[in-house]
Amino acid sequence: MMMTIEPGASVRRGGSAVLEASEKTFTDMILLGPPGAGKGTQALRLVERFGIPQISTGNILREAAAQGTPLGLKADGYMKRGELVPDDLIIGLIDRRLREDDCERGFLLDGFPRTMPQAQALDGILEMMERPLNLVVALEVSADTVVERNSLRRCCLNCGATYHLKNHPPRRAGICDQCGRELIHREDDREEVIRRRLQVYDSQTQPLIHYYRANGLVRSINGELPVDEVTAILARMVEEGTRE
Ligand code: AP5
Repeated sequence: MMMTIEPGASVRRGGSAVLEASEKTFTDMILLGPPGAGKGTQALRLVERFGIPQISTGNILREAAAQGTPLGLKADGYMKRGELVPDDLIIGLIDRRLREDDCERGFLLDGFPRTMPQAQALDGILEMMERPLNLVVALEVSADTVVERNSLRRCCLNCGATYHLKNHPPRRAGICDQCGRELIHREDDREEVIRRRLQVYDSQTQPLIHYYRANGLVRSINGELPVDEVTAILARMVEEGTRE
């Protein structure tokens, strides 16, 4: 699927990021990694840099739960227990989201796919849309890092910014630097739930790395590196993986 954008044109993306379009390029990518690997942190930076939308199924579900929508009510219990929300609820949501206008030049999937049926459904959706995936990045971190990062994480439900009480604290305690809203400690960021999420990742999501590796799409990054270093490596991978 091709779309022409004049060099230098500004394109508004999902009401948040503005892209200075200098090239006719496309990036359809997935960020994979265990809870707390830094997917959300890096996704926000890539959105700013490349002007493609972050599609975070976790953020969509948390927003739905906060608003008490039918989807949110169904998903809430699974999320609180650290279990995956059933595939049929997630796949339809992604199918609709990828057809929105802001995905025309690419998208960054954060938290999807998480199971083999989700990955196969994504293949089908992209085939229908005649646009192949061009990059899957696996962020690798240890189990200890997962527990430490998630326990000390604080999140803004309004703009999606995340903080870490030690490594990246907000300027004012409990308040988001970006939008001034109150920060929350996610219910699934309690240690016993974090450990359950990690088990679920290992059994259901980690195998997808092998699935995508068979297509030669996977690049791995040491997610234990400082945030800026991970961003620099990731940005290079996106630039190399971008297709015309
Ligand atoms: P979701 O919201 O997707 O959670 P997750 O995958 O567990 O990932 P996290 O958001 O916990 O971590 P992250 O990798 O984004 O890390 P972050 O950047 O915040 O899903 C939640 C739930 O929703 C699931 O359990 C499930 O129930 C449901 N769900 C969602 N998608 C689903 C799907 N497709 N199918 C079924 N169910 C689904 O960073 C973490 C912390 O570390 C932050 O404090 C950050 O500041 C810090 N940090 C980040 N990078 C670094 C670094 N390099 N160095 C030091 N600190 C860092």
